[in-house]
Amino acid sequence: NSAAAIRCSLRRPDYIPNHIPDPKYVRIFDTTLRDGEQSPGATMTTKEKLDIARQLARLGVDIIEAGFPASSDADFDAVKLIAREVGDADSDHIPVICGLARCNKRDIEKAWEAVKYAKKPRIHTFIATSEIHMKYKLKMTPEQVIDKAKSMVAYARSLGCNDVEFSPEDAGSCTSRSLKGLDDSFLRDLSDREFLYRILGEVINAGATTLNIPDTVGYTLPTEFGQLIADIKANTNGIENVIISTHCQNDLGLSTANTLAGAHAGARQLEVTINGIGERAGNASLEEVVMALKCRGDQLLDGLYTGINTQHIIMASKMVEEYSGLRVQPHKAIVGANAFAHESGIHQDGMLKHKNTYEIISPEDIGLLRSNESGIVLGKLSGRHALKAKMLETITDDDLIALVSDEVFQSQVVWKLGDVQACICPTCLD
Ligand code: KIV
Repeated sequence: NSAAAIRCSLRRPDYIPNHIPDPKYVRIFDTTLRDGEQSPGATMTTKEKLDIARQLARLGVDIIEAGFPASSDADFDAVKLIAREVGDADSDHIPVICGLARCNKRDIEKAWEAVKYAKKPRIHTFIATSEIHMKYKLKMTPEQVIDKAKSMVAYARSLGCNDVEFSPEDAGSCTSRSLKGLDDSFLRDLSDREFLYRILGEVINAGATTLNIPDTVGYTLPTEFGQLIADIKANTNGIENVIISTHCQNDLGLSTANTLAGAHAGARQLEVTINGIGERAGNASLEEVVMALKCRGDQLLDGLYTGINTQHIIMASKMVEEYSGLRVQPHKAIVGANAFAHESGIHQDGMLKHKNTYEIISPEDIGLLRSNESGIVLGKLSGRHALKAKMLETITDDDLIALVSDEVFQSQVVWKLGDVQACICPTCLD
């Protein structure tokens, strides 16, 4: 694991918008400040957003989606400030600063006005492409949607932005959801898949550098999402000239699995948020995706790796928890309060003998210094080994001498804490 950590920090390839010199490198695109802030009740101040952006830069994320500049003056100001302060900093690693825009001129101009102060600015523009969204939400024909997408990508490039990301919103639905709820096919002779390949080919021609494939409603299963990425790779004209990205929502609790399936199938940018915050059930979480790649990348994920310095994860998680007001559930993978805690007697006994028995990651890997060596938590399922270890951890030598020489204790030899009992006679404590 430490070898993987060193490799992560040493091998970040140069940034070229539409190309990654090392085919095993996966870019991490953090959207905590945009999609994450779309979580109900998660509004953050400009100062808080700047703090988080600085922490994301320390963490080593490749791209920070700092906000949606056309959505409000406050969001515009925050993105601009982050572009100046974090995107133009004097440091070893300067992330790309990205602003979201719908496919219209005003949004795109606002996004450019806000991000252009960064050394590496990016505009991310999107329009819905699923049948159900085009018909009922946009009320546009498929041909109109294609025209809009390609003209707005070209417009973003014409402003001087050489890094333009395009997202076909609700693309995940073309795995099987899009026809549900429609009485007749809106796309007529074109299948929804073919329509997706076509619009993606058109925006590549118009100058897009990254194609992000969102599973907007978190509907796909990992095998389906992986296949969707593989099919896009195989069928879209010009795809070899751009980066494929994933953006997986968590409605079925599958966002991390889908994201990893996308990476396995060829995506080289993964969109994530700290603590997995985001619309409805949230997004794929940065800490889960990054630690899965770090732990299993060599064996099962084609040797893929990221540039994330994982030791900054816990600080990023705590900061986002405090600023967004969204509490992390105790059993949340990687960053939950219980992620490295062991309560049952059998597990505690194993942990006291060798940490790898019940831990696949060590807390230090994510920058967590735990208060006790083995993460032992006393509860009703704990055993005497744990109780003894806990006592020895907290008790001073003087207490111990006083305790074992106490006549009452010597005769009782049982120490009780709630339902937990342990022998503390001098022999057992020795
Ligand atoms: O979920 C979604 O489709 C989005 C896009 C704007 C990428 O957030």
